[in-house]
Amino acid sequence: MFTEKDITRFRSETAGVKNVVHLNNAGSSLPPDIVRQSVLDYLQEEMTYGGYEVHAKYFDEIEGVYDSIARLINAEASEIAVLENATVAWSAAFQAISFQTGDEIICCQADYSSNYLAYLHLQKRLDVKVRIAPNDQFDQVDVAALEGLINETTKLISIVHVPTNSGLVSPVEAVGKVARKHQMLYLLDACQSAGQVPLDVEQIGCDLLSATGRKYLRGPRGTGFLYVSNRIKDQLRPAAIDLHSAEWTATNEYRFRDDARKFENWESNFAGILGLKKAVDYTLETGIEDIWNRIQHLGALLRQKLSTLEKVTVHDVGEVKGGIVTFSVTGYHPDQVKNHLKEYGINISWLGTPNARLDMEARGLTELVRASVHYYNTEEELDQLVARLGLL
Ligand SMILES: Cc1ncc(COP(=O)(O)O)c(C=O)c1O
Repeated sequence: MFTEKDITRFRSETAGVKNVVHLNNAGSSLPPDIVRQSVLDYLQEEMTYGGYEVHAKYFDEIEGVYDSIARLINAEASEIAVLENATVAWSAAFQAISFQTGDEIICCQADYSSNYLAYLHLQKRLDVKVRIAPNDQFDQVDVAALEGLINETTKLISIVHVPTNSGLVSPVEAVGKVARKHQMLYLLDACQSAGQVPLDVEQIGCDLLSATGRKYLRGPRGTGFLYVSNRIKDQLRPAAIDLHSAEWTATNEYRFRDDARKFENWESNFAGILGLKKAVDYTLETGIEDIWNRIQHLGALLRQKLSTLEKVTVHDVGEVKGGIVTFSVTGYHPDQVKNHLKEYGINISWLGTPNARLDMEARGLTELVRASVHYYNTEEELDQLVARLGLL
């Protein structure tokens, strides 16, 4: 458990907390100073000495990002590809699956819009069927009902760990048990959970996992990663190819790399990747279990404080809830709420139906205010948010 002294130190290592009350960590969190400084220094050196030369100088450190991410999720370094964001990572995996007409994909109500759009996009080309597993009494995916949807044409189970629009933490390990039992390919969108919730791919039992750098990992924007289990890597055929992901072995022959990096391509934002490594290392040093405990505490506290406000309705669902706190304020559009809070230096965000259509429509919601806490936030910051909301 973090002490007050720990929190003070985390904040002293995060310049942004002096300027803003940052409760938009599910959008993009404030990076630790070491992340920001590494990126700035790297860019400065690139400008001064040349991009290829600086890459060569930092080569070993940059390559260390694979080990760091692997440690974070209990994988092998060879099972990690570093990509631009979670969408690119998720899509790289999804597009590499050899879908045939008639195949079925099982997803969940909390699915992210871009993922569902990818199913629809595939449907335009191949007549695949998308089955949405219903929710249980906690408004999270009903694992028994999901298992009931599996049949001989099921090709993929694709679910979201922590959705964009609620505090929900999906029962991913229970889904993993089902996937393993039926030997189903299991793709997990861990975009909002990486850096927030402890991730152990062996325990979860997923084959593929996508995540982003800028959210709970506190990394730079434009960074993300994909985990591809060694168990299934040979079943996947990347949609894109270049001289980094494959070797041109003879005029009419090529061979993909043997590791997850077959999903990468040659040119990359190395300043960002170095920053991602620093961010993952910072998370590992800070301790993901303590981070998760602190986030759960702050999230629950904020929900409780918000429930004392007459005009506020909290909308979070799920048996286990994390740091994403969603609510509505009677008489105010979320954009008005956001602008009101902005005047007091408080950052939050808001979401509409297009961000998570299945879930928003099922719950009769059109928009939500989203305040997302991280471990470096304080209870005083939550009080400030609640006090300013009370003025509405
Ligand atoms: C659940 C979920 N999945 C995927 C994404 C996409 O992540 P990125 O913007 O890094 O591509 C988001 C972004 O908010 C998300 O909330």
